Amino acid sequence: MKDVDTAAPLIPSRPTLKKLQVVAAGCQACHLWKIGTQTVFGEGKPSSTVMFVGEQPGDKEDLSGHPFVGPAGALLDKALAEAGIDRKSVYVTNVVKHFKWEARGKRRIHKKPNAAEITACRPWLEAEVAVVKPRAIICLGSTAAQAVIGPKFRVSIQRAQFVESSLAPFVTATVHPSSILRAPTDDARHEEMQRFTDDLKKIWRALSLSS
Ligand code: URA
Ligand code: SF4
Repeated sequence: MKDVDTAAPLIPSRPTLKKLQVVAAGCQACHLWKIGTQTVFGEGKPSSTVMFVGEQPGDKEDLSGHPFVGPAGALLDKALAEAGIDRKSVYVTNVVKHFKWEARGKRRIHKKPNAAEITACRPWLEAEVAVVKPRAIICLGSTAAQAVIGPKFRVSIQRAQFVESSLAPFVTATVHPSSILRAPTDDARHEEMQRFTDDLKKIWRALSLSS
C-alpha cells in the first residue's frame, strides 16, 4: 500500500537545500501529493541557527508554494518582529510538506496529518536538519512537537522548555500561531500573542542570541 512508504529513497546522498527542494517537488511518497497543489518545502538560509517547524502548509502556502505566508505566517512574523528577530535569519519548515484539506462549501479546511503521512514525510525534515544543522529547533504546535520531540510532550505545560534530542543541541516547542487566531476574544488573542512573543524572547535569551 502506498501509504506505508516514506520519502527516504528520494533523499539525495549529498543533499543541499536546493537539491532537496527540487526532488521534494516530485515526491509522491504518500497520497497527499494528489490533494495539495504543490510541495511546500522549507525556506531559509542553509546557515540558519534556528529552525521553526510547523505542521503542514495551509491554503495560502499551498497556492504560493512558500511556508508560513498566510494568516498564521503573519502572526509568526509579527511575534518575531516584536521579539526583535529577523525572519530572514531563521529557517522555516513543516513536518508535512503538502496541504491536507477537505472541502467545506467553497473553502478548503485544514485537516490534521495522520501518523502515516507524518512518517512518510519525515525524511525531508531530517534531511533539512542534516543540511542546516540548526543550533535550535522550535516546534510550533502539538503536531510538530509530537512528531519531532515525542508523544509525551505537552505544549500547554512545557512550552519554551528545552528537551534532550538527537536533532539539535536545543529543542523546544511553543503554540502554533493559528491557535492564537482561534482565541475566542480580542483580549484572549492579545494575551496569547504576548505569551507566544515571550516564549520566543525566552528561547532567544537561552540561546544567547539576544540580550
Ligand atoms: N501552518 C503551518 O503549520 N505551516 C504553514 O506553513 C502554514 C500554516
Ligand atoms: Fe511526499 Fe510529504 Fe508530500 Fe507526502 S506530504 S507526498 S511524503 S512531500
